[in-house]
Amino acid sequence: MFFITFYILSSVSVMLCDNISNEYNREQYEQNPAVKILQKYIQIDTSDLKNLELSTDFWKRQADELGLSFAVYRPRGLPICVMTLNGKRPELPSIMLNSHADVVPTNTGKWTYPPFSGHIDENGYLHGRGAQDTKDVGVQYIEAIRKLIRNNVTLDRTVHITVMPDEETGGSRGMLPFVETEDFKSLNIGFAFDEGYPSRNDAMYVSYQDKRPWQAKYTIRGNGGHSSIVKNGNVIEGLQRLINNIMEFRKEQVQIMTTKDANDFGAYTSVNINMIEGGVAPNVIPKEIVAVVDMRLSVTADVNNVENMFNSWLNELGYNSTVEYLRRVEYSPATAVDNSNPYWIAMQETMMELGITVDAIVCPAASDLIAIRSKGIPALGFTTKRNVLSKAHDINEYIDLNTFIKGIDVYVALLKKICNLPDFSK
Ligand SMILES: *[C@@H]1O[C@H](CO)[C@@H](O)[C@H](O)[C@H]1NC(C)=O
Ligand SMILES: *[C@@H]1O[C@H](CO)[C@@H](O)[C@H](O)[C@H]1NC(C)=O
Ligand SMILES: *[C@@H]1O[C@H](CO)[C@@H](O)[C@H](O)[C@H]1NC(C)=O
Repeated sequence: MFFITFYILSSVSVMLCDNISNEYNREQYEQNPAVKILQKYIQIDTSDLKNLELSTDFWKRQADELGLSFAVYRPRGLPICVMTLNGKRPELPSIMLNSHADVVPTNTGKWTYPPFSGHIDENGYLHGRGAQDTKDVGVQYIEAIRKLIRNNVTLDRTVHITVMPDEETGGSRGMLPFVETEDFKSLNIGFAFDEGYPSRNDAMYVSYQDKRPWQAKYTIRGNGGHSSIVKNGNVIEGLQRLINNIMEFRKEQVQIMTTKDANDFGAYTSVNINMIEGGVAPNVIPKEIVAVVDMRLSVTADVNNVENMFNSWLNELGYNSTVEYLRRVEYSPATAVDNSNPYWIAMQETMMELGITVDAIVCPAASDLIAIRSKGIPALGFTTKRNVLSKAHDINEYIDLNTFIKGIDVYVALLKKICNLPDFSK
């Protein structure tokens, strides 16, 4: 799905291409303290959750260096880091800057540079898993705070930099239980930023709603036996029906996608079959095949209709086939991006002052933001990555360091504005 989107956008981006000539050479990048920190963070292989303790140590060092208070919460064992810069008016609702330390596996395929090397190439690209998703954002937050402190800027509102442990696997041991705790409530969060979606043009995207992820595991059953037998009830007949049904639905959604604005991600439901498992030997007809389907529901999709569709696909499989939901988010509220939301107004003003266009979008994927918004807290997905090719979850993930460094100043400007918003609760 993403491939098709990018294909459409690529012709546009040629015309809109920014002046992104590097103002640094490679040695200057290597000496830049923010780059060094990002490099160290990427060198921690957090695709293995055991190494989250190392990333917690990493964040403690950053907090200590800046004199921020540091706390670790473990609602389900895995560490959640909270670094706090106290505001002058701590009674006001605070601002949360959230990102996640975990990264997806490096995937198959050969990386040009080892995925946990943090290698900087001659284009000024820093390579590694998490360079875009989303270690860059975590480091941009802390560097923005460093700049504010260094320039003696004081803020009215308290800022909490939070780092989650398991966003990539759904947040069930991180953000989801955390938002239910007294510790979370005591942070008194009024507004949150979290990871956003990179753009292929001059604008920066702000996502105000996430699509609802559904993942279903179909176990398709049929007649097994000797591989010389050609008879009805072969498990692959069921698999074929399932694939046909899903690809038919997928075609309809691609149709919707191509008739809409290229960044109207909320208009269609994405669907992909991402795992097929089964078989015991080349000459044995299997009795069981497993297919895992991943869907991100359009904002208008009705949950009951989607469930009925999943069931109708199941009903065509027969032979005691089953479907089991691995993930099924039914509710993903939107944050207002209009004049009713003072945080959004402040953000728009800041971006206008910086001369940067912002486009409000529905995020094509899902993140920990769903849990934050579900608590009634306004929260926006945002990244300063623009004019970039999204490499999240792909091999050869990298970040253009020019984009990374410039983005820190965007966060500085945003924090100066948003953290000094007056009390508008009364
Ligand atoms: C791009 O920006 C650099 C640095 O700001 C400047 O020196 C250069 O002239 C610009 N190039 C173009 C084509 O605008
Ligand atoms: C910040 O404050 C300190 C102490 O008052 C001062 O020495 C320093 O020059 C100030 N820095 C800036 C950038 O204003
Ligand atoms: C379905 O499962 C039941 C109970 O395990 C079994 O008796 C029946 O033979 C199965 N039917 C098919 C078509 O496999």
